Amino acid sequence: MKFNHEIVEKNIGLLGIFIVLVISIGGLVQITPLLFQKETTEPVEGLRPYTALELEGRDIYIREGCYNCHSQMIRPLRAETERYGHYSVAGESVWDHPFQWGSKRTGPDLARVGGRYSDKWHEVHLIDPRAVVPQSNMPGYPWLAENVLTGDETAAKMEIFKGFGVPYTDEDIAGAKQAVEGKTEMEAIIAYLQSLGHALK
Ligand code: HEC
Repeated sequence: MKFNHEIVEKNIGLLGIFIVLVISIGGLVQITPLLFQKETTEPVEGLRPYTALELEGRDIYIREGCYNCHSQMIRPLRAETERYGHYSVAGESVWDHPFQWGSKRTGPDLARVGGRYSDKWHEVHLIDPRAVVPQSNMPGYPWLAENVLTGDETAAKMEIFKGFGVPYTDEDIAGAKQAVEGKTEMEAIIAYLQSLGHALK
């Protein structure tokens, strides 16, 4: 039997088309099932959307670059689960846009930090980490306690998340500004931190 490989190998255009075709099929085979798998698209039981204040706190977390030192992704390895708790599952992040999994850990993973410390501890720690953890190299964020939120954009943000499929009700959105206005950024980010991992302890 004669193979006509030469035709493809000597024709760069044709070779290019076949390469793209093969990579596309390979990609689709990997990606398509994920879009329909229940465990990667359905929220875990007990998951609730962030409240207006938590949502603002999350934006501050992103603005301050906390993800540069903290992951939110507990791997299914013994050393991790013993330290941080149940490993992270996809269903916990379905309403997180963009998710904050990360991979860089200068500090500990925060996926289940909610409830681990009191609000007061977080406040003292965020203003000056060395006040509670003397050997810490985490920077302080004292301005969070001074900056006050207006809540002007909170409802609009929730509308956008609703467009992504986060089940915010009209009531949530109508009450968003009131829930946030006058609160400090410190209160918002602590609310966010305390919510982390609520769905699966
Ligand atoms: C330069 C790296 C760095 C940055 C940036 C950083 N952290 Fe940290 N963080 C650390 C380190 C190191 C620790 C461990 C020592 C300590 O507790 O202070 C830590 C600890 C923590 C803890 C306690 C976790 C636990 O389980 O004990 C929380 C909560 C936390 N950081 C939140 C934040 C938040 C919120 C931000 C952004 C506003 C932030 N961190 C930014 C390095 C960082």
